Amino acid sequence: MKTTAPPTHSKILILDFGSQYTQVIARRVRELQVYSEIVPFHISAKNVASLSPNGIILSGGPASVYDKGAPQIDPAIFSLGIPVLGICYGLMQMAHHLGGHVEFSGRREYGSGKLQITDGSQLFNGLGPQLDVWNSHGDEVTTLPKGFRIAARTEGCDFAAVEDRQRRLYGLQFHPEVAHTPRGKEILQNFVYHICHCAMDWTMGSFIEEACQRVHKQVGDAKVVLGLSGGVDSSVAAALLHKAIGDQLTCIFVNNGLLRAREEEIVQRVFGENFHIKLKYVDASERFLKKLRGIIDPEQKRKIIGNEFIRVFEEAVVDLETTNHLSPITNHQFKFLAQGTLYPDVIESVSIGGNPAQVIKSHHNVGGLPEKMHFELVEPVRQLFKDEVRQAGLQLGLPKEIVYRQPFPGPGLAVRILGEVTPERLSILRTADTIVQTEMEAADWYYKVWQSFAVLLPVQSVGVMGDQRTYENTIALRIVESQDGMTADWVRVPYELLARISNRICNEVQGVNRVVYDVSSKPPSTIEWE
Ligand code: XMP
Repeated sequence: MKTTAPPTHSKILILDFGSQYTQVIARRVRELQVYSEIVPFHISAKNVASLSPNGIILSGGPASVYDKGAPQIDPAIFSLGIPVLGICYGLMQMAHHLGGHVEFSGRREYGSGKLQITDGSQLFNGLGPQLDVWNSHGDEVTTLPKGFRIAARTEGCDFAAVEDRQRRLYGLQFHPEVAHTPRGKEILQNFVYHICHCAMDWTMGSFIEEACQRVHKQVGDAKVVLGLSGGVDSSVAAALLHKAIGDQLTCIFVNNGLLRAREEEIVQRVFGENFHIKLKYVDASERFLKKLRGIIDPEQKRKIIGNEFIRVFEEAVVDLETTNHLSPITNHQFKFLAQGTLYPDVIESVSIGGNPAQVIKSHHNVGGLPEKMHFELVEPVRQLFKDEVRQAGLQLGLPKEIVYRQPFPGPGLAVRILGEVTPERLSILRTADTIVQTEMEAADWYYKVWQSFAVLLPVQSVGVMGDQRTYENTIALRIVESQDGMTADWVRVPYELLARISNRICNEVQGVNRVVYDVSSKPPSTIEWE
């Protein structure tokens, strides 16, 4: 069984039964500076033992334990002598497999409730007699397995918290990981520190040190190439690799002509001038724009841009290899391709009852590169969640404008220009986009939202400027909040801010006479317009 954590670390293993909160549990544990790793529910007891975690958390899940095909744990896991905390469906698993009884209660308990701690537990140490908790379940335990006792109840449920202290098995009917259980973090803290005896040894400082060692071990003295997009993931990967292997790393930054204003300048300044990272800048704008001429179908745009990127990247690598031909290490100079893959991209997802938990968004990854180019992959940040990659970036000395920048799609402004991408339309959108970013920053809103950007619509409408009738373009303004880009809502920014952005765009961007605000959430809309 593969693990990404060094053996010296404390570790909590999270068995995923398909809950929408599984990653939240993992992040909560890491906030306690303890490494956590998510594995599918069907992991065998033998594999669990080989990972030697300090503790195990069983996630909730949408199934009912008696459903046909319901996900079932390997019951031998309960006899490993490792502390286990079952949350919601995880508790049902515990009761079901250890000789208790679970029933569908006939009514779903959903929403907030009051937990009465009737007979203390180490889990609730320091928390007082009553807690606000969040419930979401249909099944409930009706008979406890032998050796268990009740520690707390809610109004609707007698077995809201149960435990077998001797075997160190604990179960919670409610969800301690969600924000609606305000003191849930302390419950998890009690489990992780006091029951599992984990040390607080997961810090970004120690991660960086260990990641450098791992990279060293993997690449030796071979050369590594990395496609730097300027986004936070590839930027942190670049900074980390540079710390680990210095000039063995070369970054390639492709200007596809679809970037925001001054993007190429920022990336070259930060990485070339400040970090002294070997950076090959490739201006391929014209190639991309030529290929996009006359194309209006969104999927076709994406495909063209993706394929062209692979070609340009391949050529850039060949070019680098030719330039450096004096000192070839092997017949293939760049043996490794580095990528800024993050932990959510590598978690093995489980799909239960048609619930597609944690589906990877394949169109967001630059597919195709590794297979086509026979590289070995280096993924130095694949253990990290997004917030951790940001912390690592700051520790590595990257500026805030890189570390906290909003996501920007690979196909760039092309998917924000509805209809044909032309140099004129790009110029309109770039100018409008700069105004949006400047005003968002000035109003202190830029870092509070997930994304804020302009979209150029293929719609012209009538306006008036001075005494002149105009017939010009429309800009849609999209400002959304989101946790992970999978769902999103439009942000209720102050009217004054909308007014400033709209006035400036209409007055300063030639060819635009109307600005509209996008008030759609995702789903059913998406964040980008194409
Ligand atoms: P959608 O439009 O699918 O976007 O709601 C969700 C998030 O993903 C970003 N996005 C992309 N990122 N390559 C990327 O690297 C892409 O092709 C791509 N398409 C969308 C989008 O900006 C949003 O944050």
